[in-house]
Amino acid sequence: MDVLPSDTAEIAREAARRRSFAIIAHPDAGKTTLTEKLLLRGGAIQLAGAVRAKGNARRTRSDWMKIEQDRGISVATSVMTFERDDIVFNLLDTPGHEDFSEDTYRTLTAVDAAVMVLDAAKGIEAQTRKLFEVCRLRDIPIVTFINKMDREAREPFDLMDEIEKTLALDVAPIAWPVGRATEFAGTYDLYERRFRPVDATDADAVTLTGPDDPRLAQMVGAERAKLLHDEAELALAGFPEFNLDRFREGTLTPVFFGSALRDFGVGHLLDGLARYAPPPRARASDSRMVEPGEAALTGFVFKVQANMDPNHRDRVAFVRLCSGKLTKGMRLRQVRTGKQVPVNAPLFFFAKDRQVAEEAWPGDVVGVANHGTLRIGDTLTEGEQLNFRGVPSFAPEILRSVRLEDPMLAKKLKTALSQLAEEGVVQLFRPFDGSPPIVGVVGQLQLDVLQSRLRVEYGVPAGFDASQWQIMRWITGDDRAAIDRFLDLNRRDTAEDHDGEVVALFGSDWRRKRAEEEFPMLKFHAVREQH
Ligand code: G4P
Repeated sequence: MDVLPSDTAEIAREAARRRSFAIIAHPDAGKTTLTEKLLLRGGAIQLAGAVRAKGNARRTRSDWMKIEQDRGISVATSVMTFERDDIVFNLLDTPGHEDFSEDTYRTLTAVDAAVMVLDAAKGIEAQTRKLFEVCRLRDIPIVTFINKMDREAREPFDLMDEIEKTLALDVAPIAWPVGRATEFAGTYDLYERRFRPVDATDADAVTLTGPDDPRLAQMVGAERAKLLHDEAELALAGFPEFNLDRFREGTLTPVFFGSALRDFGVGHLLDGLARYAPPPRARASDSRMVEPGEAALTGFVFKVQANMDPNHRDRVAFVRLCSGKLTKGMRLRQVRTGKQVPVNAPLFFFAKDRQVAEEAWPGDVVGVANHGTLRIGDTLTEGEQLNFRGVPSFAPEILRSVRLEDPMLAKKLKTALSQLAEEGVVQLFRPFDGSPPIVGVVGQLQLDVLQSRLRVEYGVPAGFDASQWQIMRWITGDDRAAIDRFLDLNRRDTAEDHDGEVVALFGSDWRRKRAEEEFPMLKFHAVREQH
């Protein structure tokens, strides 16, 4: 098909105004509160909750709700799209619990930037660090938001220092707090010299000549103005200047201060995201780099969500678009199988009122309903044979055998496990010696979810027993004969995963090390990139 230059120009233009991001935070730092406030700014919540929608707006809104009802899927919270000043923000939700979650990590493969929310009294916490490490692996640029400035907080210099030291990430404060805790009066933009008073609108921001502008003292009192004067000077001298290239390569973070609860600093943060966060970038595939402005559509599945309603086995595959334009009724090629996947009723997570929009662009995420064909890591194209890299699977840290309370349900269990494995809820390993499958999860919580879903959705009450294995690794090697030899020698301790990849199971770390020594020509991987 010939492509008119105007098509690619439109695609490039739409891509350029997309900002797709996630929020990374330790539980309780304020991710949920900030999300709400961000959506309010983009108008999304107001409109979603509005009962006064007229005409088309009402119709599309009820369409959306019907999709949710019919499929029993709460798609709304997974991807939140809002528009402000001609920039389209796609906020991808990451599950908020403390457990190490594969879902969270995979979601981070689908964003172009992340907002790191810190509790001003606590600074960097365990989960912040873990999530940050994943962002670093992928060079995802990070914007920092120091939240809860309306309460007792640690000294800003202290917090900056901690970010620099514990994350080895340079900080460039954009805003600086004026006053602390109950005396918190607002923030001062170090570059634009703008004072934003707390509990006022963005329009009330005042541009000053500098921190010593007498108007500041009039507004916040001499004491707080003096403190800012001293600190702003120190901050400007002591930290590197904000640099867009360094931010985008992931080595420097701009820092904003605010209070999500009081809806303060959120607009400033959004301005920062709009200005600094990158639009979709070229993405690596196994054959070439794919530019977002290309005419042909490409995308990859980073998440699969099942129906909550046990009578419908539909799933929604979340597809991040990397190039081209998606419209209703397109047929796409699932590269892994070569199958054509009709996209008759894609869920577009677009528009302020969550309406079902007609098209999606690079950087957007769409939901594609299917009966289990689409799997995490799948690449979709208009025909080209290419696979995007980088959607990871992690070696489970907990391996269990499944104990059925009713042996008559064995067949049902098999189907259930297989479906849940496709969805990414659990990893499944079938030992080559024919013994029953082993389930693997990355955290305890995942095991609880598995148990509850088996019971509630599939009517299969089951328990889990400790397995004889502690560690699992994917095996690869150039020498196929060496792999076969390993499998022959370790028939009882090897299995295949749900995608047919070969894995080794070890009873202890000592055994793992020994296998690595005995088979130096093989590689034993704790992380696998899905294809
Ligand atoms: P999370 O999603 O990261 O886990 O955090 P969430 O937004 O749920 O916030 C955790 C708690 O911190 C909530 O209080 C929330 O109200 C509070 N919080 C969030 N942002 C701010 C802020 O800027 N300032 C202050 N002072 N508090 C903030 P909670 O008591 O646990 O819940 P709730 O009863 O208030 O809902």
